[in-house]
Amino acid sequence: MPEGQAKSTRADRRRRESRKESRRGSRSHIEKERVRSAGSPKLNRGMAVPTSRDLAAAPTLNPRRELVIQNEELRRIRQELETARNKYADLYDSAPVGYFTVGANGLILEANLTGATLLDTPRRSLLGKSLERFIADQDQELFSLHRQQLVSTRKPQSCEIRLTSKNGHQFWAKIESNVVQGDDRKFARTRTVIRDVTERKRTENKIRRSQKELRRLHARLQKVQEEQSTRIAREIHDELGQDLTALKFDLAWLRKKLPANQAAAEKINAMLEQVGGTIQTVRRISTELRTPLLDDLGLAAAIESQGREFASRTGIEFELDFEPEEPELEPELATALFRILQEALTNVARHAHATRVWVSLKEKPGKLVFKVRDNGQGITPQQIGNSDSIGLIGIRERAVLQGGKAKITGVPGKGTTLTVSIALKPRRTQNSEQGFQN
Ligand SMILES: Nc1ncnc2c1ncn2[C@@H]1O[C@H](COP(=O)(O)OP(=O)(O)O)[C@@H](O)[C@H]1O
Ligand SMILES: [Mg+2]
Repeated sequence: MPEGQAKSTRADRRRRESRKESRRGSRSHIEKERVRSAGSPKLNRGMAVPTSRDLAAAPTLNPRRELVIQNEELRRIRQELETARNKYADLYDSAPVGYFTVGANGLILEANLTGATLLDTPRRSLLGKSLERFIADQDQELFSLHRQQLVSTRKPQSCEIRLTSKNGHQFWAKIESNVVQGDDRKFARTRTVIRDVTERKRTENKIRRSQKELRRLHARLQKVQEEQSTRIAREIHDELGQDLTALKFDLAWLRKKLPANQAAAEKINAMLEQVGGTIQTVRRISTELRTPLLDDLGLAAAIESQGREFASRTGIEFELDFEPEEPELEPELATALFRILQEALTNVARHAHATRVWVSLKEKPGKLVFKVRDNGQGITPQQIGNSDSIGLIGIRERAVLQGGKAKITGVPGKGTTLTVSIALKPRRTQNSEQGFQN
């Protein structure tokens, strides 16, 4: 018997069995299949495709009608598929970022409309071109590194580089790529997302520029302030101090000239005491404005004298450790460290509830480390990060202006430590040519 005939006989048999089944009141295979497909996670609701078994088993009321029903079903399925495809294509094309599929050879295989607009090139012309040609010359190396890392690690990579569109317009883009492996698990292609970040870069640059300007302004203000303090301190000390000393001598002379007058002598004694007190105050104010020790004897002597004065005023013990004992520092750096110490000690006296404070200055290879540590209640992370902590901000700024950084840490109940690290200029250190690395 020819094969075709054998098949049709088998089909006839199945059809006959099916008819028997439907006569027994069971549902047709098509209906069953539909119910099954409706619940299937893989197919859309109502998108069941009749199998040849279904067709064979369907009740053969009228073969022509059956065919019409099947055709309608197929048309509906095709329409649904088309709608889903269009929806996906719309989403792909109008996404706010450029999507590119790039082959292992670096050529563009697919691109969405946003991508084509970003590169100012019709989509048709993009296909088959290398993505590399749109990377600005100065960032070619970075992009090639991005591709290399992608291939070697197979992990998502991202970078920020400049792209040049077809009309020569250059813009900053964030590029994120991931690998799509082929069936043989070999590197097949990459999916690359391109986002225009020019606006963000521009804002970042503006912020960076204005930060730089603010820092320069701050440095200038500090310089002017130091110069003014030095001048006022000198004037107060020299002029006011000398005048008061002269007044003291005159009063002493007057007291000698009026020995008989008891009331006048008492008055003069009181005046002498007052003038003596005023001389002390003038000395204290001028030293606070600018300690002459800093200019004359250097940082170690100035800190020692400040420490002695601090301990006697607050009752908090003060320990000093300098290595070397008399470091030779640029005057500006010495002034900055002295001002940092003054602010730190004021904080210890005001906020720490400490009984002891340690100050150390050590020269290490390539850097200078200055520490102020207390055994008080300990500063909290909130207080450290608070933008109202102007004193701490001032400390950090002074450190940055000297080419270093300041770190503040606190341990509850144990105390607070301020660490200032400053890169030393190469001429001041042996074997160091790089300076301090942050
Ligand atoms: N040594 C310290 N121990 C404990 N808390 C501190 C210490 N130094 C600073 N603080 C906390 O950090 C805050 C910010 O300090 P600062 O910026 O100098 O501002 P101010 O001294 O004007 O309050 C202080 O108000 C205080 O709460
Ligand atoms: Mg303070």
